[in-house]
Amino acid sequence: MTTTVIKGGTVVTADLTYKADVKIEGGRITEIGPDLAGDTVLDAAGCYVMPGGIDPHVHLEMPFMGTYSADNFESGTRAALSGGTTTVVDFCLPEPGQSLMDALKRWDNKTAQASCDYSFHMAVTWWGEQVFDDMAAVVGRGINSFKHFMAYKGALMVNDDELFASFTRCAALGALPLVHAENGDVVAALQEKLMAEGNTGPEAHAYSRPPEVEGEATNRAIMIADMAGVPLYVVHASSEEAHEAIRRARQKGMRVYGEPLIQHLTLDEGEYANPDWDHAARRVMSPPFRDRKHQDSLWAGLASGSLQVVATDHCAFTTAQKRFGVGDFRKIPNGTGGLEDRLSMLWTYGVATGRLTMNEFVAVTSTNIAKILNMYPKKGAILVGSDADIVVLDPKRGKTITRPPSSRRSTTTSSRASR
Ligand code: URP
Ligand code: ZN
Ligand code: ZN
Ligand code: ZN
Repeated sequence: MTTTVIKGGTVVTADLTYKADVKIEGGRITEIGPDLAGDTVLDAAGCYVMPGGIDPHVHLEMPFMGTYSADNFESGTRAALSGGTTTVVDFCLPEPGQSLMDALKRWDNKTAQASCDYSFHMAVTWWGEQVFDDMAAVVGRGINSFKHFMAYKGALMVNDDELFASFTRCAALGALPLVHAENGDVVAALQEKLMAEGNTGPEAHAYSRPPEVEGEATNRAIMIADMAGVPLYVVHASSEEAHEAIRRARQKGMRVYGEPLIQHLTLDEGEYANPDWDHAARRVMSPPFRDRKHQDSLWAGLASGSLQVVATDHCAFTTAQKRFGVGDFRKIPNGTGGLEDRLSMLWTYGVATGRLTMNEFVAVTSTNIAKILNMYPKKGAILVGSDADIVVLDPKRGKTITRPPSSRRSTTTSSRASR
């Protein structure tokens, strides 16, 4: 078998930074040390050699809000790889009444064109004996995490009794429940009120989902998980209220994990005030972007360890799809992209600004989620025997992300590329 050596770089992991060559054979790391030789030698002088990014929250070609998210496994995983993400975890979404295993077959059929590693979470979108039974079969397939939507009333939302039943089942199976934590009943009521008052534009999406809606649901999910005796993973935690609930639970000794998105860390609610309807609608996602206070809280959580993972929730829609919601913001498909740019944005706004160390960067983009999802040390590590999912990041080579002219408020944002 031929060997490849990444030579002369600085290995950066979640806990160590050191100079070493890395030898790869058959897709695995076989040796780490000085002066290694191989059939192919890649010069990494001046570069950082890090575990490939894992994005645990993507929606590729997902049926949602009357359409399908625009990136599929072909385009989505190419985007991931070009930005240094080598593993994605997508959400398998059963229709109401559909067996989880049937839904999984459908998801398996979507992945033929994938160019990076992938896995699935299973969503629990309804409850019944069939779901109870299927959950064991899903775990038997190696899928050990179950997502629950506390929002999207009338579609994906599950109620508290269903949450408790599913969390209890997760506890029995040794599985990890995930929650989209927003109070779907209150969101629906606020949406009605805003529409009745004539607030039909994309900015009303944000008004209908204030931080309290998220804080309440996060607290509720944590309490229900505690009663069910199971850990909990809170996806797209976007507010100080959600972070506070997670922090408090962890201080009490509960295994509760929080996942901010790169979008919430770097974009704020001002995006919805843009007079260009398309601009604002393209940024409609749930939870919405928030003000600076919330962003600062999320950054602090990543640095202090009360939040563990930075994901994207990549769920891209074209402008034509977003325009389904002209005249009624409730019909704008919820979701934004980020898969290609997560690492470079977090490097620029996290590491280059001093908010995160390089080791913390690796922890929150790769190692922590590998441990939470039982992929470690196959993934998330530079160790002999680990998968050779490696990012070589050249801090001197730039990748520039510019705002479209209509939204350019300060200057161009420039970001260091990971390749
Ligand atoms: O707005 C979002 N986040 N769309 C994707 C589905 C979800 O809620 O994660
Ligand atoms: Zn969600
Ligand atoms: Zn999502
Ligand atoms: Zn791999």
